[in-house]
Amino acid sequence: MTTLTQLPADYAQNPHEVHDLLRAEGPVREVHMPRGLKVWLVTRYDEAKIALTDPRISKNVQEGGHLFEVHAPADAVRRDFNQALSVHMLNMDAPGHTRLRKLVTKAFTARRIELMRPRVNEIAAELIAKLNDGDEIDLLEEFAFPLPITVICELLGIPIDNRDEFREWSNTLLSFGSNEDIVHASGAMAAFLFGHVEKVAAQEPDDTFFSALVHADDSGDRLNTQELVSMAFLLLVAGHETTVNLIGNAVLSLLNNPDQLQILKDRPELIPASGEEFLRLEGPVNIATFRYTKEPVELGGVTVPENELVMVSLIAANRDPERYENADRLDVTRSAQGHLAFGHGIHFCLGAPLARLEFDVALTQLLARFPNLQLAAEPETLVWRDSTLIRGLHTLPVRLA
Ligand code: HEM
Repeated sequence: MTTLTQLPADYAQNPHEVHDLLRAEGPVREVHMPRGLKVWLVTRYDEAKIALTDPRISKNVQEGGHLFEVHAPADAVRRDFNQALSVHMLNMDAPGHTRLRKLVTKAFTARRIELMRPRVNEIAAELIAKLNDGDEIDLLEEFAFPLPITVICELLGIPIDNRDEFREWSNTLLSFGSNEDIVHASGAMAAFLFGHVEKVAAQEPDDTFFSALVHADDSGDRLNTQELVSMAFLLLVAGHETTVNLIGNAVLSLLNNPDQLQILKDRPELIPASGEEFLRLEGPVNIATFRYTKEPVELGGVTVPENELVMVSLIAANRDPERYENADRLDVTRSAQGHLAFGHGIHFCLGAPLARLEFDVALTQLLARFPNLQLAAEPETLVWRDSTLIRGLHTLPVRLA
């Protein structure tokens, strides 16, 4: 067997095949990403869990961020991402992480999320009401995108008119844009969010989520303006890019597996639990965010030296045949518990309850109104986004029926 040391240029189009090759060679492999960045890529389930929780593998971007430049050819590096957006908990280890997570958890309560269910249902119904039998549409554009962005903008108290700008900025920041584009998009986003935070801070506290976050208090400890800007940015990007693609990837998987679609049409009460299987099989996050070794770490039989980037492919771990039987097969009735699509450990997705709620509402309404929807393109013409972070299509053309 030849050893894979360089991920192919078209890796994003078919990562699963590449992961199968890597996984067969070992749980942790030193490889170059498509644009040259050298990383230690984790593709097996057990080692993925360890890598996501070992405190010697750090998420401290402030201290380790320069490693991108150490391990990458110059053109693969984003140098000028606006720092005002980076002071958030996904870029920190304990105790800094613990402090921010505690403050945001005070505002992002399970009760507040569940109270959103009627509104999420209403937003989905409004979107579906605009669609007609026989229409050929991009399901991402007309349904999967507007639902979560509307929800997260309402949660943050951001006017919906800014939706398209946000989409453009966050697309630029999550895909491989030029450095110039990144400077522009992150600068524009930071300026907007600063204004928003200042506006909400100047208002009387009310019972909305963002007001609760701005005024959250843990024994006198509060979030400062910069922390609020970064937190809003994290919630905004994490809260829509992912959910859009969970919905899109799930619909594609169902259209490719008509027997499984039939099960959910016959038994819609299975939809909420089936979300876990869609998260497992084709979750929207491929390679989890930045991590590096603070000291040499033995992982899956190899020693990863100090100051190396460790990347965990969540979608590879979730298809590890040692963990899930027939791991490549969609089975909406299986228990996919324990999947890693929301991460693992202290950075486990804060928004998981909201994402599950949105998925449940979206799929339930879509299948009830358009039970016979079909793919309106040849499957091989579908193009995946050129990102190692996000697993999602550019467009999902469907015919409604
Ligand atoms: C963290 C996935 C939806 C907010 C994470 C992580 C993953 C993830 C994998 C951990 C990344 C890492 O450790 O490198 C997902 C998926 C979603 C989703 C698959 C939808 C299907 C959301 C939503 C929100 C959100 C709707 C907010 C409203 C966050 C936040 C973190 C996070 C704030 C950072 C947590 C921390 O550092 O403690 N998410 N997410 N996510 N997610 Fe999500």
